[in-house]
Amino acid sequence: MRYSLFSIVSIILFTQSISPMSNANENNADNQLSKQRQQELIHLLKQDCGSCHGMTLKGGLGPSLLPQQLKNKPTALLENTILYGREGTAMPPWENLLTKQEVQWLTKQIQQGITDETR
Ligand code: HEC
Repeated sequence: MRYSLFSIVSIILFTQSISPMSNANENNADNQLSKQRQQELIHLLKQDCGSCHGMTLKGGLGPSLLPQQLKNKPTALLENTILYGREGTAMPPWENLLTKQEVQWLTKQIQQGITDETR
């Protein structure tokens, strides 16, 4: 009997510790990012990245990020450029603002091209 309260508390704590995870999975069937976060990232891509790469990513101060221009570049190169920036150029690092997972998702979007649906 001495341990029964302890057991109940453990079960409650255990249930609470796993529940946020199951919630996250529900929203994130696609690629672990919530729909809302995906929209925020598309917004960031157009506004922040767009301020250098052009609102439609056709290029500006920074080069074009359209699929045609990126197709021969290794994914890791693109991801690392976004995460760490390019020294000696205007391309800034985003590692403090974006997770690796978010950068991977963004890279996929620019490689595929953002569609009207994504916008
Ligand atoms: C302040 C201007 C600026 C901003 C803001 C910016 N970039 Fe860049 N970016 C550049 C420049 C300049 C280069 C070219 C660097 C070089 O000469 O190698 C570049 C290069 C890149 C490349 C490599 C392209 C290639 O063909 O190798 C990628 C990918 C990229 N940027 C993605 C992004 C993304 C995604 C964002 C937003 C999260 C972003 N950039 C925001 C200026 C910027």
